[in-house]
Amino acid sequence: MTVQNACPTIPTVLRFITAGESHGPALTVVVEGLPAGVPVVREAIDADLRRRQGGYGRGGRMQLETDAVEILGGVRHGRTLGSPVSLLVRNRDHESWRDVMSPDPQPDAARERRRLRYPRPGHADLAGALKYGTDDLRNVLERASARETAARVAAGALARALLREAGAEVRSHVVRIGAAALPAGPTLWAALDRVEESPVRCVDAGAAAAMVAEIDRAKKDGDSVGGAFEVVARGVPAGLGSYGQWDRRLDGRIAQALMSIPAVKAVAIGEGFASGATRGSLFHDEILWSEATGLERPTNRAGGLEGGVTNGEEIRAFAVVKPIPTLLLALRSVDHATKEPQKATVERRDTSVVPAAGVVGEAMLALVLADALLEKAGGDSLAEVLAHLEATREGQRRLAGPR
Ligand SMILES: Cc1cc2nc3c(=O)[nH]c(=O)nc-3n(C[C@H](O)[C@H](O)[C@H](O)COP(=O)(O)O)c2cc1C
Repeated sequence: MTVQNACPTIPTVLRFITAGESHGPALTVVVEGLPAGVPVVREAIDADLRRRQGGYGRGGRMQLETDAVEILGGVRHGRTLGSPVSLLVRNRDHESWRDVMSPDPQPDAARERRRLRYPRPGHADLAGALKYGTDDLRNVLERASARETAARVAAGALARALLREAGAEVRSHVVRIGAAALPAGPTLWAALDRVEESPVRCVDAGAAAAMVAEIDRAKKDGDSVGGAFEVVARGVPAGLGSYGQWDRRLDGRIAQALMSIPAVKAVAIGEGFASGATRGSLFHDEILWSEATGLERPTNRAGGLEGGVTNGEEIRAFAVVKPIPTLLLALRSVDHATKEPQKATVERRDTSVVPAAGVVGEAMLALVLADALLEKAGGDSLAEVLAHLEATREGQRRLAGPR
């Protein structure tokens, strides 16, 4: 009997798979499909890992951990070999969790010491326990924790390195935290240069101060606060993705990648959230032509994607992050074993993770774009990819002008 996959998705060129628990020895990631010859700079990966750990509103664990990558395979003398790249990021606090997280059988005391009983509303605790039939919510939390995103950021740094060679860059910035938001209107690429100077990774000093105040107020109340970030990619060639099949549409692939970030609850491409409240004549990006510049789009409300295909404009995607579930002001829950009413467990104490979530968003967008780039202009070596890409760009210059 042939078993059909009811929901086929395209095999991606660039794949990655992460493993590891929050308090285990390490997070690992294997990235497969990168061409040979992509420059890999360990310090650049570490810099992204540090940005993920930062941002105003993070808890004490972030000071404990200074993430650093170890490269276990697939890279030699600073360049990828074309073989799978294997990366490792150690959990610095594993030492004090050695018996609790041991892969080997342990005395009951080790299990009891950090057993989790009171599922947190909004976290994966209850859903995961029902799924895997466990009486210890620790078995769920350890993998559901967003600590896993450190591995994604490490993988994303490799994708970024490929994109950079192709002339593309990815950045992010925080647009909202609670009631504090950037003034309406697109944020220019040049303004994103300053984003790391801001404690909340926001380009506007006034809005940033209001965001810090939002976080302080939430923290004082023992609460958490959500927000939103935008990811932007510049220099992405036109023609990536396809409208030919539902799962090839790049807008859908970007949306899935961003939605998969823990706590992200809504994603829009370009000004997608506003699009339902306006008219076509006010929304769509007009197409102009001049001999000097070629085809031009005076606005980019579509976020660089039309028909699930890149159109040569900046890729812009917007993600809404819910307030994190772990609260000092614990919500009502029940003991998972006895069903007695209890306050939900308090395990991690970040107040706001929006600045960090933006860094994870960059990694996810970079991974999706690198995959789409290899689909369009793939090759076994970086030189082949760049040659294919130049042929594509040359063809597009004939149609679209210099741009
Ligand atoms: C960078 C980052 C850090 C996070 N840190 C925490 C945290 O300290 N405590 C917490 O309860 N949730 C935290 N979260 C959110 C949870 O991981 C997330 O809400 C949980 O896995 C359930 O997934 P869902 O919100 O997507 O349904 C964090 C998310 C991100 C992106």
